[in-house]
Amino acid sequence: MWPSTGNYARGGIAISRVLGCRGVAVLPEGMSRERFDWLDSWVVGPEDIVRTPGSESNVKEIYDECNRLAADPGCVVLNQFCEFGNYLAHRSVTGPALERVFDVHREHAPRARLAAFVAASGSSGTLAAGDHLAARRGARVVGVEALECPTMLYNGFGEHNIQGIGDKHIPLIHNVMAMDAVTAVSDRATDELSAVYASDEGRELLRSRGVDDETIAALDSFGLSSICNVIASIKTAKHFGLGPDDIVLTVATDGAQLYGSERARIIEERFGGRIDRAVADESLRRHVENIDTDDYLALDDVDRRRIFNLGYFTWVEQQGIPLDVFQARRSPSFWDDLVPLVDHWDEMIRAVNDETEVEPGP
Ligand SMILES: Cc1ncc(COP(=O)(O)O)c(C=O)c1O
Repeated sequence: MWPSTGNYARGGIAISRVLGCRGVAVLPEGMSRERFDWLDSWVVGPEDIVRTPGSESNVKEIYDECNRLAADPGCVVLNQFCEFGNYLAHRSVTGPALERVFDVHREHAPRARLAAFVAASGSSGTLAAGDHLAARRGARVVGVEALECPTMLYNGFGEHNIQGIGDKHIPLIHNVMAMDAVTAVSDRATDELSAVYASDEGRELLRSRGVDDETIAALDSFGLSSICNVIASIKTAKHFGLGPDDIVLTVATDGAQLYGSERARIIEERFGGRIDRAVADESLRRHVENIDTDDYLALDDVDRRRIFNLGYFTWVEQQGIPLDVFQARRSPSFWDDLVPLVDHWDEMIRAVNDETEVEPGP
C-alpha cells in the first residue's frame, strides 16, 4: 500500500505491478483528475485506489486509513513519510546526481559555489539530497511549503493546491535540525504560472522577452511543485543576496502533463475563462519578476527545535513512534549512521538478483 498525495503512489503501483503483486494507492480524493486516470490504468481493480477525505493538506487522513487497512496482515504499508529508505535513497542517489550537475557546471564556471539546495517538502525525501550537498559542497538546505498551509514557517494549517507537498505535519524522515532556512510559496503563484506557461499567449510573451525556445519547451517539465521550487529558489537568491557565482540547485519534481484539468479550472476561476496577453503579462510580473522575500526564515537553533518538536504530535502521540526513536533524530549522527545501510541493501538486492537470475540494471 502506497500512501501519497503526489507521485509516490504512481511509482509504488508501478513497482507493485512489475513485482507481480497487488498495489493499493491511498490518496486524497481532491487530487488531479489526471493522477486518478493514470492510477486507473495501472491498478488491478478500482478497489485498489483508496480515496481519503480532503485534498493536498489532508495527510493525517491518509495515515488513519493506512492504519485501518494495515490491520489486515496481508497488507504491507510502505509509508514514504516514515520509511528511512526514502531519506537514504535521496541522500545517496539524488544528492550525488545533483552534485554531478553542479560539478559539470563548474567546469565552465570555475568560480561557481553551491549556495543552496531548495526543495519543497512532501515526505521531505527530496530534501535529504541537501544533506549530501551540505556535507560535500557546503550548500544551505532550504525547505519549502505552501503559504496557504505554512506548517514549518508559522505552525500554520490550511488548504492548498501545490500537489505533492501535503502538509500539517513534519515527516518522521525529515532531518529538520539540518535545515538552514524555510520559505513558503503561494498556490496562487503556482496555479497562475502553470496556466500561463502552458498557454500560447504566455509562451509568446516569454519569447518576446527573450526567453529561448528550448527553455520555453522545458516548461512542459514544470508542474505545480516544480514551479514552487523555482519561485522558492529565486526567493532564496534574493534573501541571501546571492550573486552570479552562487548556484542554487532545485528539482523539477513533476511535469505539467498531470495538470491539464487544473489549468482549465484555474483559467475559468482566476482569469475569467481565457488567458490574453495582458493577463499573462500581469501574472509574470507579479509572480516572477517581482518575487519578494516575504515569508522567509533563516533558521536559528530555536527555530529548528520548534519545527522539530512539532513532529511529536504526529509521530509520538498519533502514530505511536517510541519517544526515544523520535528524539534520536535530533542528532546528526542518527542520520549519518543510516548511510551504511545503503551498501547493505545493495548486497541484499544483488543476492535477490542472483537468486532470481535477474540481470541488474546499468
Ligand atoms: C508532485 C510532487 N511534488 C513534490 C513532492 C515532494 O517530494 P518529497 O516527498 O520528496 O518531499 C512529491 C512527493 O511525492 C510529489 O509527488
